[in-house]
Amino acid sequence: MKERGARPSFFSEKINKRDVCMKFNELSAEERAALLSQYTAEYEAYRARGLRLDLSRGKPAAEQLDLSNGLFQALSAEDCRATGADYRNYGLGEGIPAMRHLFSELYGVPEELILACGNSSLQLMHDTLMRCMVFGVGDGHTPWCREERIKWLCVTPGYDRHFAITERLGFELISVPMTEDGPDMDMVEELVKDSAVKGMWCVPKYSNPTGNTYSEETVRRLVSMPCAAPDFRIFWDNAYAIHDLELDGDVLADVFALAEEVGNEDRIYYFASTSKITFPGAGVAMMAASKHNLAHLKPLMNLQTIGYDKINQCRHVAFLKDGATTMAHMHALADSLRPKFACTLRHLSELRALGIASYTEPKGGYFVSLDVLPGTARRVFFLMKEAGVTLTQVGATFPYGVDPKDTNLRLAPTYATLEELELGMSILVLAVKIAALESMV
Ligand SMILES: Cc1ncc(COP(=O)(O)O)c(C=O)c1O
Repeated sequence: MKERGARPSFFSEKINKRDVCMKFNELSAEERAALLSQYTAEYEAYRARGLRLDLSRGKPAAEQLDLSNGLFQALSAEDCRATGADYRNYGLGEGIPAMRHLFSELYGVPEELILACGNSSLQLMHDTLMRCMVFGVGDGHTPWCREERIKWLCVTPGYDRHFAITERLGFELISVPMTEDGPDMDMVEELVKDSAVKGMWCVPKYSNPTGNTYSEETVRRLVSMPCAAPDFRIFWDNAYAIHDLELDGDVLADVFALAEEVGNEDRIYYFASTSKITFPGAGVAMMAASKHNLAHLKPLMNLQTIGYDKINQCRHVAFLKDGATTMAHMHALADSLRPKFACTLRHLSELRALGIASYTEPKGGYFVSLDVLPGTARRVFFLMKEAGVTLTQVGATFPYGVDPKDTNLRLAPTYATLEELELGMSILVLAVKIAALESMV
C-alpha cells in the first residue's frame, strides 16, 4: 500500500511565504543584491551558450522507445489468423480477445467491460465526450449540448489536454485542488450538488503532473457521492496505471469494484493506453465501461469505425505476451527513467533547502510538479526560455491556462538525455533563485 507521510510533499508543507524566504530574508539588502548579481552572471553564461533543450512534454526518450523495437519483428501473417478469426479483415469492433485479456490482466478490469481500440486514449476521451454532447449518456438523458449550462470539474494542477477538450466543448471549468490523497473531496462533494456539473477529469494514479495517487477513501467517495446530475460521469484516465519507478509503487483501488458495491458503475468511463508502454501514437488504447454503458456506446462507436487496427493489437499481444512479461518490460523502462527522476529531484533539493520551492516526489508516472514562490512561475518560465530551455507552458496545468497563484511548473524529465537534464536542471535552479530574489526586492 501507499505509505503516507514518509515522503516530503508540497501538500504536507504548505508554502508560507514568510517562512520559506527566511534564508534569503536573513540577508541584508546588499547581500541579496550581491547574490542576485552572482546568479545572474552564472545565468548569463548559460544563456550565451545558445542551448536548445526541451523539458516540456512527457514523451519517452529514444532509449526507452528502443526497448519496444521488438514490435517490428513480433508479428507474422499466421499470428493474425491463429485464433480462427482473420484479424487482417474487418470486424471485432470491441478489439481482439487477446488484447482485451491483456488489458484486463494489467488493469484489473473485467475483460467483458473492455474495448481494445485505436492508437490514442485521448481520442477515445474526446469522442466519448462528443457522444455525450450529441447523444447524451443514454436512457433518454438530454444530450449535453442541449443543456443551458454545463460545468466540468478539473483537478489542478492537471493535464492541459483534458482541460482543453472540455473548454472547447463549452463547459465551464471548475478547479478542484489536488491533495496528497487525490482531489479535495469535500469540495467535490459540494460542487456536484449543482446539476450543471456533468463530470470530472481524473488521472487517479501518478497523476499528471503531481504524481499523486488517489487513496482508497477518495475513490470510494468519488463513486458513492450523491450527484445532482443523474448523468454525471467520471472520466477515469488511468494513463500511468503500471508506470511505477520503484518496486513498491502506489496501489490504486479498484474503481469498478467499489462503484459496483454502491450500484454506481455507470458513473465511470475508464481509459488507458500503451502509449508509454510501447510507442506513443502507435500503441493500443482501451476504454472500459459498465455493461449498461457499453450497450449504449458500442452501437455509436460502430457508426464511427467498422473496427480498430487489429493487426497492431495482435502485434502488441505478440510482443507484450502477458501481464508478467509486460511488467518486466515496464521494469526495464523504469530502469532508464529512474536516473532522470533522481537527477531532477537532486537539483530541486537545493531549492527546498533554500526554502524557495516545494515539489512532488512521485513513485511513478512521467512528471514532477514544482511550486516556486507564488508570483514567480512566469518569470522562471521566461528566464528558462531565454536560456534556450523549453518548459511546459506556464499556467498549462490549470483550466484556461491560468495559474491563479503563478506558482506551478510541470517538469517532464523523461525526454531529455541525462546530460541535457543535468544542464537544464542547473539552469532551472538558477532561474528559480533569481526569480525568488527579484521578488523580495
Ligand atoms: C494523463 C494523460 N492521459 C492521456 C495521455 C495521452 O494518451 P494517448 O497517447 O493514449 O492518447 C497523456 C499523455 O501525456 C496523459 O498524460
